[in-house]
Amino acid sequence: MLTSPTPGDPPATPGRALLTAPPAAGPDRRWWRDAVVYQVYLRSFQDSDGDGVGDLAGVRTRLPYLKRLGVDGIWLNPFYASPQHDHGYDVADHCAVDPLFGSLDDFDLLAEDCRLLGLRLILDVVPNHCSREHPWFRAALRAAPGSPERALFHFADGRGEGGELPPNNWRAMFGGPAWTRIREADGSPGQWYLHLFTPEQPDLNWRRPEVAAEFERILRFWLDRGADGFRIDVAAGLFKHPELPDSPDPEADERTRDSVNPLAWNQPEVHGIWRRWRAVCEEYTARDGRQRLLVGEASVPTAAEQAAYLRPDELHQAFFFHLLHAPWDAAHWHRVVDDAVRDIAATGSTVTWVLNNHDQVRTTTRFGADDPLTGAARARAAALLMLALPGAAYLYQGEELGLPEVEDLPDEALTDPIYHRTGNRTGIRDGCRIPMPWSGQEPPFGFAPEGAKQPWLPQPTHFAAHTAERALADTGSAWHLYREALHLRRVLPQLGEGTLRWIDTPPGVLAFVRGDGLICAVNFGDEPALAPVDGEPLLASGPCPPCTLPAATAAWWIAGNAKL
Ligand code: GLC
Repeated sequence: MLTSPTPGDPPATPGRALLTAPPAAGPDRRWWRDAVVYQVYLRSFQDSDGDGVGDLAGVRTRLPYLKRLGVDGIWLNPFYASPQHDHGYDVADHCAVDPLFGSLDDFDLLAEDCRLLGLRLILDVVPNHCSREHPWFRAALRAAPGSPERALFHFADGRGEGGELPPNNWRAMFGGPAWTRIREADGSPGQWYLHLFTPEQPDLNWRRPEVAAEFERILRFWLDRGADGFRIDVAAGLFKHPELPDSPDPEADERTRDSVNPLAWNQPEVHGIWRRWRAVCEEYTARDGRQRLLVGEASVPTAAEQAAYLRPDELHQAFFFHLLHAPWDAAHWHRVVDDAVRDIAATGSTVTWVLNNHDQVRTTTRFGADDPLTGAARARAAALLMLALPGAAYLYQGEELGLPEVEDLPDEALTDPIYHRTGNRTGIRDGCRIPMPWSGQEPPFGFAPEGAKQPWLPQPTHFAAHTAERALADTGSAWHLYREALHLRRVLPQLGEGTLRWIDTPPGVLAFVRGDGLICAVNFGDEPALAPVDGEPLLASGPCPPCTLPAATAAWWIAGNAKL
């Protein structure tokens, strides 16, 4: 549990003690184990210069809001030089700030402010692929087949008489074949290159030592500038089956929008890379006592497989995504939580829970059953449940405002490459990436300064009901619920890391005890249930009449009189 400052922790109030702090003994090493980190989707957080896109200087102005909410740190989505075909996940220069988002100076100022406020700063690193504009790929296009430049990617001759068919049958996750054919320098039809996402994102060949060396340089570049760690994009990627054979189910990734092709993901060699990255982090920690963090987007089919990424010398955390796909069903949640706690805890790490992110339909809509009020109530209850579970949690911007998914964007406003590659709206992600509504009655709701360009995605007028300004003024808002839950996580030893024991409950209700007596109960049903504890809850996601747990409601109690 992150409670009082420890020798290596940044001071809670502005000061510079941290820079001269002696190497920390134990406590700072564990800060991440039950931390709550807030994901800042930079494009949509705060626009400071009026170009309609959020930027680093904008984030700085909102840090006090995040500090007040009570999170331990922020994860910033990619801000590196990029042609933005996949909104920054197509990186052309990993050590440069894209002018769209500011400059290196802006980054340094942001890092400094985070440090002064005691907020950890986690950057996104994208090692599986880069941009077609990356100098390495441009050089590979100019070079000949078989050259060292081409070897940094997966170039291969096509099949068929004239090489007109892709080298294997894999499909890309965002639609279409996973291979694109190039023209050689003399203009003739040439080799093909592999891209598991869009053609603008060629996959790097991690079997080449230059790739690993370059990424270690990149990590050090940002660690030297004050980063506290990295969220690793597609952390089950990097290595492919060395022969790149045909897949028996080539559409699997495209169909599920997940990394399930066993020939393209989750190869054993990737663990060696995470060991090297962990060693880099430990080297920095040994210098100044601050524990750096690696959190992986390691999407693999089971909790048991994910556990391999969390061995003590690999990643500290890996997002546990099963709740992102969980229906609103008590038995399902019970099973998922059990699997996670059993398999991840066995590694010595903790579970990293997540309900929302920039790739998924927001909980308010996902759990909505076509009724916004039900969706809002269930999303709040789910949040309270998640924040009572043992381990760490990531929040996605706007979750604390109860933002719904925006599902009626006109076709011409859509920017997600999934839409442009597939021609349909299934699984598109624009609707959860709408710029934040901060204040006021109409767009841009404080997202951008007066006179700014239209935000890069249009905000619906009904966002007026969800502004941060309104949420802060209303003590019954989702914002206050999150804030109170985060506060209790800091002060109650039962929350955060520790044990979980289920309590017998009627079907449709889940209840568990944390530590020596914090009880969390959630009613997944549509009818009120008997509360497992008499007396007023410490915190509830909605109004709770005496002895009652209403439908779509979660509550926390300190035990004593639990009907266990
Ligand atoms: C990750 C990111 C997603 C991106 C993809 C390709 O899944 O979360 O936004 O499109 O990787 O880099």
